[in-house]
Amino acid sequence: MARILVTGGAGFIGGAMAEALAKDPENEVLVFDNLLTGALCKLPRSENNNVHFIQGDVNHFEDIAKVFRAWDFEYVFHYAALVGVLRTLQSPIKVLEDIDGIRNVLELSKIGNVKRVFYSSSSEVYGEPFEIPQNEQTTPLNSRLPYAIVKNVGEAYLRSFHQEHQLNYTIFRFFNTYGPKQSDDFVMTKFIKAALKGDDITIYGDGAQTRTFCHIKDNVAACKRIFEANLHLNDTVNIGSDKEIPIIDLAKKILEISQGNGKIIHLPALSEGDMTRRCPDNSKMKNILQRELISLEDGIKELCEYLKEEEHVRN
Ligand SMILES: NC(=O)c1ccc[n+]([C@@H]2O[C@H](COP(=O)([O-])OP(=O)(O)OC[C@H]3O[C@@H](n4cnc5c(N)ncnc54)[C@H](O)[C@@H]3O)[C@@H](O)[C@H]2O)c1
Repeated sequence: MARILVTGGAGFIGGAMAEALAKDPENEVLVFDNLLTGALCKLPRSENNNVHFIQGDVNHFEDIAKVFRAWDFEYVFHYAALVGVLRTLQSPIKVLEDIDGIRNVLELSKIGNVKRVFYSSSSEVYGEPFEIPQNEQTTPLNSRLPYAIVKNVGEAYLRSFHQEHQLNYTIFRFFNTYGPKQSDDFVMTKFIKAALKGDDITIYGDGAQTRTFCHIKDNVAACKRIFEANLHLNDTVNIGSDKEIPIIDLAKKILEISQGNGKIIHLPALSEGDMTRRCPDNSKMKNILQRELISLEDGIKELCEYLKEEEHVRN
């Protein structure tokens, strides 16, 4: 049996990961979350009665220390963070407070002899890209904004705790991920919800900026396999799709699939925080999965159905 902590587990990716971990009845999963952007309805469901929830702030040492003392964790997934482009641009000091949370988790994991800490970093550490695709080892990091800097500092903390205290880690550099239960302020959910309502889709600038979109099932499958098969110990892994698409084409595709009547409206470009391109070298991830990733078309169709159903249940 493994006792596993998932911080941020009432959120989109943390919740999906915690749910996957709880499918194994041998695991006991504790979700720790302050419900800042998470919600009780996103908490993982398990038939095994092995998911537990404690509300608290990982950036407050005593909140999280109490939980470590009571639980004796073997594995930690540290996914809690202040997220969202606009939210992080508007509250840079609050973003920087997340460094406290990373240090708290590592300090307590060291004291508690945790076997491995899995950390959700971000493609944002690459910043404005030096090269495409972005490789974990060879692409220089260009983190300038607080959110990206925090992720970069977090990665440095993990490597340093390993060097000085032999605490094992794996860094996941998540690229744009999408799927059910994601907050409305992320591009995919925002666009699809607008399209389904027949509203216009608004994009920043000309929409030539590219992104790749990874389905949450592929994200979780890769991360779970790394955990279960003991892969990529003390290593960094890009977790994302390598199919690049300009944001304007994403909007068009969503309007086409959802048969929305809205138009595409251009807002002024963001002055910062909206990188021109982003695309991972995801060969490590593909090696782990040994299968094709879910196609964008299939993912959008599935999410349209999910969001229609959600709207139907709400009304
Ligand atoms: N979604 C993506 O495309 C993406 C891309 C790159 C990186 N990430 C990273 O993945 C992780 C999960 O993001 P997500 O998309 O699921 O967002 P999310 O907002 O759905 O989840 C984040 C969760 O962390 C919780 N949280 C925030 N601050 C906390 C704190 N101080 N203490 C306790 N809980 C706290 C929130 O309440 C929320 O439930 C984050 O670390 C994020 O930076 C996500």
